[in-house]
Amino acid sequence: MSEERKRAIGTILEAGFQMESEAFKALMEISAATQLDPLVKEVLRVAGSVEPRPASISRDLVLRAAEHLDISGRNVETEHAGLGHRRRFAEDLESELEVLADPTGKLGTAGAFDDFLHYFRNRFDKMSLIFRQRMDTRNAGTISDALSGGSNGRGRFICMVLDKREKGDRIFLTVDDYEDEATVLVGRQNPTVYEMARKIVRDQVIFIQARKSAGPLLIAESIVLPEIPDRKPGHASEEIYAALISDVHVGSKVFLEDEFRRVLSWLKGEIGTPNQREIAERVKYILIGGDLVDGIGVYPRQEVDLAVPDIYEQYRLAAKFVSEIPEYVEVVLIPGNHDAVRQALPQPAIPKDFAGPVYDSRKIVSLGDPAEVRLHGVNFLLYHGTSLMDILSGVPGLDYQRPVEVMEYQLKARHLSPEYGKMTPIGPEQEDFLVVERVPDVFTSGHIHVSGAGVYRGTTIVNSGAWQGQTDYQKRMGLVPKPGILPVVNLKTLDVKMINFQ
Ligand SMILES: [Fe+2]
Ligand SMILES: [Fe+2]
Repeated sequence: MSEERKRAIGTILEAGFQMESEAFKALMEISAATQLDPLVKEVLRVAGSVEPRPASISRDLVLRAAEHLDISGRNVETEHAGLGHRRRFAEDLESELEVLADPTGKLGTAGAFDDFLHYFRNRFDKMSLIFRQRMDTRNAGTISDALSGGSNGRGRFICMVLDKREKGDRIFLTVDDYEDEATVLVGRQNPTVYEMARKIVRDQVIFIQARKSAGPLLIAESIVLPEIPDRKPGHASEEIYAALISDVHVGSKVFLEDEFRRVLSWLKGEIGTPNQREIAERVKYILIGGDLVDGIGVYPRQEVDLAVPDIYEQYRLAAKFVSEIPEYVEVVLIPGNHDAVRQALPQPAIPKDFAGPVYDSRKIVSLGDPAEVRLHGVNFLLYHGTSLMDILSGVPGLDYQRPVEVMEYQLKARHLSPEYGKMTPIGPEQEDFLVVERVPDVFTSGHIHVSGAGVYRGTTIVNSGAWQGQTDYQKRMGLVPKPGILPVVNLKTLDVKMINFQ
């Protein structure tokens, strides 16, 4: 014990007080941040003013004295977390982060006509490869075979849907396989196929078994989506957590600053139930899924929703929050449609020109959208979710309040934005980065501001919600967000806990 501490204890004992062990601990914690002598003096003054005079000094009394000296309880906690404390689980754990896929540095289309041809050809080739790896579709033929009668009048082929029309209870799909084009009729007599066809959108690549009818028409007997195989996902050997944050929208009038500050306090071990604190200790990764700031000019009349109408200032403010994340935590950042980077998918990492303060605030692994990382043997597919609204509006049966089903749809289609165009800008790159080539263990998105989690065929699906309340724009659109909820993924079990910070 230092001389100063010995002297402090001596002074208290001499004044005729006993010292409770918790009080002693508090005194030592606070003394790490301030001089002990004035604090001891104040402790004795407070103790002397209490009626009846206490026999011993309690922790509470020490904290009250500290408060008088303007050493707030919060500081006590912070110092406690920083000095002389038991080290936190994630602090002593080596980071195991591997970037598996990132479009940054690989993009550069000028949007020429040829680029579109390449883009769709690449999509078709990549999806064909997925079908060729499946037992039941690997022997696919061509549209041409099917049109010429195939075997027993039947053909099986992989094709891209160019157009879809519904007439009464019949659906007509115009399909193409880069050799031939055909029209496929789906009638109601086969309800399973009919229901499947209803959910198919343009530009999707599917497998069809059809029989030849009179003329050039094919009648669908079955439709197969590329799908993901049912399997056991990878997992970590220890209980470690990844916290998923997205759609913070710093700069918005309805950015939920208090709630978001509570997330940071929780991460630092300052607040939470014992169970939540135990999880906080084990958070090794924070994945930020885009829309870190609210941006400017993202939608018509956005300026009325902005508290901070300057994009640089928005990132400066965001940097302050990001800098508060404990330094032993790995932070991965991808952009969203509100960030200051090209809007067409795939998006490269947010450039330093805008987000400089964020990159200066701490170590950040900054990737494009979509991106894939491997954390302790668990493969994550990170996608902001820009196309989710288009899928919702184009596919019957999906609901804005049930984001997991929309993401399930993407996995079945093995594509993050099956229908080209609509509200989702896509850059016609040489390669289609939006094909889900590698089956993820965890698939995470944000964007629609409604959190949710589920499991589909072994893949854990999480939508990370938002930290922004309802904007006027959302009010006008009739969209009710579900913000302030933080999903944390246990990398050992892949269980998802939703921590409510509202
Ligand atoms: Fe958002
Ligand atoms: Fe978004």
